[in-house]
Amino acid sequence: MLSATTIRASAPAILATKHLPLASGIRVASCGLLHGVQTRKFTGSTNSFFLATTPKSKQERPLKAFRERSFPHPVYTEAQMNDIKIAHRKAKTWGDWVALAAVRVMRKCFDLATGYKHDSEIASGNKTPYGTNAFHMTPQKWLARFIFLESIAGVPGMAAGMIRHLNSLRRLKRDNAWIETLLEEAYNERLHLLTFLHYRQPGLFMRTMILGAQGIFFNLFFISYLVSPRTCHRFVGYIEEEAVITYTRAIADIENGRIPEWENLLAPDIAIKYFGLGPDANMLELLKVIRADEAKHREVNHTLANLSQDEDPNPYALIYEDGKPHPTKGLDFMKPEGWEKGDIDGGVVEEYMKPGKEWKTGGKPSGGAPTGSGTTTTTSQVA
Ligand SMILES: [Fe+2]
Ligand SMILES: [Fe+2]
Repeated sequence: MLSATTIRASAPAILATKHLPLASGIRVASCGLLHGVQTRKFTGSTNSFFLATTPKSKQERPLKAFRERSFPHPVYTEAQMNDIKIAHRKAKTWGDWVALAAVRVMRKCFDLATGYKHDSEIASGNKTPYGTNAFHMTPQKWLARFIFLESIAGVPGMAAGMIRHLNSLRRLKRDNAWIETLLEEAYNERLHLLTFLHYRQPGLFMRTMILGAQGIFFNLFFISYLVSPRTCHRFVGYIEEEAVITYTRAIADIENGRIPEWENLLAPDIAIKYFGLGPDANMLELLKVIRADEAKHREVNHTLANLSQDEDPNPYALIYEDGKPHPTKGLDFMKPEGWEKGDIDGGVVEEYMKPGKEWKTGGKPSGGAPTGSGTTTTTSQVA
């Protein structure tokens, strides 16, 4: 029986995302689950298994009003989001090669777990994902992949931030403002995950995979970060390259009409509020903003891997007072392969490294920070 609040789905293993127009004008989603006939409520439920699957429907439980976010999402323009490209930073050091090899091994396992394949020419950037039907992905498979991907992607920023936090406490010195950027990345990835959970609730198999993967991945990453944080940031940079490839494929699938179920699928409220999307934002816009986030993570982590882990300030936390290209939280000046130290506003990062600078010694900055190429950069807001 269909009603405004409840729908019974009788087709097992059919996906949860086709909208049906109702006479009342309210759109609800038809859903099928992996195991037999299920009833899904669109109202808020205390049982997380029955969380609403219809984004932005009038039946969806309103989000609680919280105070302002600690990590507000930057605003991206449509042109900036459309301009995101698949890119690859060539491995230059032994650490880079180790990171790249680890990502390739993980990718194989990940593809296996989520039933994903794609043309290797697309991954290498030699061929666009547009106009090919090879390795067709269904909406179910995409969502399984996104959920698994995002549940893992939220780990490195938190683990790295935690280690640097403990390091700062233990060694009684400043962190050079890396922690906040790392935690912000973890928060951003978790919001990606929560967004996709509005479209599909994973079954027992996926939950078990996520549990096992997190247990293994967190511990491995934690130990690896203690040994070589630089290699770990490179590793995350390479993972984010893969994430951009995956989302580019999904976006191309929608734009080529290969996922008709998603053409009018609305973004959930949690995503509209966090990403600052319009009230009628759809899945395509959602994937574009998430892909832009991944591209930013790609740049940030490649950049951090280029810096001295103990000495350099986080260039994303500095304030640049002129219009020259420099690292930003938004998409203003993108460098997919990361900023080299010497590229950052005429080498301002190196300026901090000069002997005798207060930053290096962990002392309290007095007044303006050291400058590079006439750029004024302040340190007073970072720790
Ligand atoms: Fe993500
Ligand atoms: Fe990411």
